[in-house]
Amino acid sequence: MDKRPIGVFDSGLGGLTAVRELRRILPEENIVYFGDTGRLPYGSRSPEVIREYALECMRFLENQGVKLILVACGTVSSVFGSELGSGCAVPCMGVVEPTVKAALSATKNGKIGLIATAATVASGSYEKLAKELFPGLEFTGKACPLFVPLVENGYFAADNEVARLVAKDYLSAFDGKNIDTLILGCTHYPLLYNLIDRLTDYKLNLIDAGKEAALGAKDFLEKRDMLSERGEKGEVRFFVTDKVDGFSRLGREFLGEELENVTRLDIEKLK
Ligand code: DGL
Repeated sequence: MDKRPIGVFDSGLGGLTAVRELRRILPEENIVYFGDTGRLPYGSRSPEVIREYALECMRFLENQGVKLILVACGTVSSVFGSELGSGCAVPCMGVVEPTVKAALSATKNGKIGLIATAATVASGSYEKLAKELFPGLEFTGKACPLFVPLVENGYFAADNEVARLVAKDYLSAFDGKNIDTLILGCTHYPLLYNLIDRLTDYKLNLIDAGKEAALGAKDFLEKRDMLSERGEKGEVRFFVTDKVDGFSRLGREFLGEELENVTRLDIEKLK
């Protein structure tokens, strides 16, 4: 038994896709969420800058006394690869491995698509692992840099016309590829799940990186007897590096619960 909180980290709202699932499957856990909203998007930055920012955020979570850091960010998970968490005093998990495994269990025809940030697609992280585990797999990746700003500005409802047009353009990259499974490899993208599902005529297995990461975290904690088992509902504390109002409003809309505990941090103090 381990009553320390789980740390979850992303550049912004995206990691809430992991929090939503954690609240469902591990309701007794306390969670400390860090959204580096003052420096997003990460996905169009260089690997060096992404590493620098991510290390600062992970150090912050470590200092909050968490038992596990769930890097609920496809970009950070991809840029660090197998080095994720090296130098960290607590275990760190990323989204790539659980998400790839879920996609491989879902596909019937061995043709998978990935939508993710530019940095993630350029890293080849999902593709390399998927092909290692499934030689002969056909894999098509597409960077969708406009999705993060759309989500962060609340353009994610299934009937949002602006988001629909952008998504339609991006998804045309899969025309003729005959994919049956599409990885939403940036944790912001599952907020567009219903829109993408509708646009693809409900025909694809959509794999939600945030959700799969949360399931991976549960498995990790269970196997090590590290669940909190506090016998009451856990709390979530949120930290962001820019103004809290937009984050709180959209977070409430997405999580379906009030974000009572949101604190703004000074980026300079993270350094
Ligand atoms: N949500 C993040 C990801 O999973 C990062 C998005 C961004 O800041 O570009 O890739």
